Amino acid sequence: MAVDRPIAQLGRRLRVGFVGGGADSVIGSVHQIALRADGLGDLVAGAFSIDPQVSRETGAALLLDPSRIYDDWEEMLTAEASRDDRIDAVVVITPPSLHQRISSAFLAQGFHVLCEKPMTDSAEAADILARDAARATGLFALTHCYTGYPMVREARELIGSGAIGEIRLIESEHAAGGPDMIRDPEDRSRRHWRFRRESMGIASVLGEVGSHPHNISEYVTGQRVQLVSASLSTIAPGREVFDNAYLNVTYDGGAVGRIWSSFVAAGQEHGLGFRIFGDEGSLQWRQEDPEFLWHLTPGQPLRRISRGLPSTSDVARDSTRLGWGHPEGYLMAFANIYRDFLSAVVAHELGGDPAPLLDRLPGIDDGLSTMRLIDAAVRSHEAGGQTTAVTGSR
Ligand SMILES: NC(=O)c1ccc[n+]([C@@H]2O[C@H](COP(=O)([O-])OP(=O)(O)OC[C@H]3O[C@@H](n4cnc5c(N)ncnc54)[C@H](O)[C@@H]3O)[C@@H](O)[C@H]2O)c1
Repeated sequence: MAVDRPIAQLGRRLRVGFVGGGADSVIGSVHQIALRADGLGDLVAGAFSIDPQVSRETGAALLLDPSRIYDDWEEMLTAEASRDDRIDAVVVITPPSLHQRISSAFLAQGFHVLCEKPMTDSAEAADILARDAARATGLFALTHCYTGYPMVREARELIGSGAIGEIRLIESEHAAGGPDMIRDPEDRSRRHWRFRRESMGIASVLGEVGSHPHNISEYVTGQRVQLVSASLSTIAPGREVFDNAYLNVTYDGGAVGRIWSSFVAAGQEHGLGFRIFGDEGSLQWRQEDPEFLWHLTPGQPLRRISRGLPSTSDVARDSTRLGWGHPEGYLMAFANIYRDFLSAVVAHELGGDPAPLLDRLPGIDDGLSTMRLIDAAVRSHEAGGQTTAVTGSR
């Protein structure tokens, strides 16, 4: 294994805190594994839950110093800001309605912030966070974890090098349909926040799932959605938010495309993927089969690019830990987000340039782009699907 020189130069692991991600959460344990994978950071503090008891139990199970297990995030911010051994970075793993307030507050105290997607719950909140991040000394990135897959990064490199020519069509989707999604619970009090209008707004499906295909399509192509025509529906009876969204979009590089986001694609297990067509060929990738990128050239045999092949790009190989034929999967893709972000923090702390590492990660501009798209999609839908510009907030 290669020696990680920058962290050795720093002489210590980074100190990391979590807000959210407690034992009562879906994604907290994934963050813990991803943080540990490369040994660049230790989880030393947290306000892990809306429920103080759960926060304490989560921290105790992680053997944290009890004085660094907090009942709420504001208490954590105040206490950590005044410690000599304060955390270097906080990871925001709460529901999206809290992302902006928590991220802005930690950035204002000089902490680095890694934030779950969608960046916020509205375009207005995204504007505020963008302003606060621009003033901050700390770094900011989003855990749009699918951009950590080596084969997604390979697609970005191939498209950048012109391997499929000029991009014409961009098809992306995240259409899921598990049993907990396809219908609303009869007992409305058991509704998850994802399906509550008051917590996620009416376009929940676009933030919770649609942010992924939108982000990944912009990540791999380098183009931003400029125009949208939206058709939003509520399919599950009794549901109070949209649960299916078809977006026809135009990208600023000239490509046109579609983004499908759904909670009601019954039977689909995850359903994230993209197909990108240039004037010389296309690339296709599916999250449920993430080790392979498919390269199609008209008149040529189908080319399957495997993660780990020596012929893949530097960034794809650098994002790979095992040789081809040994699946890495979701957890290692998530770990790549942590590795790149914490390596960027180390570079920053050593007075170096974090930009090459941050370039691999979705950040403020990407979150802003998603939240503005959602805002424009709702306006388009309200205007009967009228083509609407993706601009600043309302
Ligand atoms: N990147 C991915 O693949 C992925 C997957 C799932 C969820 N997510 C995102 O992660 C975030 C959390 O999702 P989840 O599914 O884990 O949600 P969840 O409801 O299961 O968990 C939310 C966590 O935040 C805590 N919390 C709520 N309010 C808090 C507060 N004021 N202070 C401290 N903690 C608080 C809860 O107690 C819980 O621990 C969301 O933004 C979601 O979109 C991302």
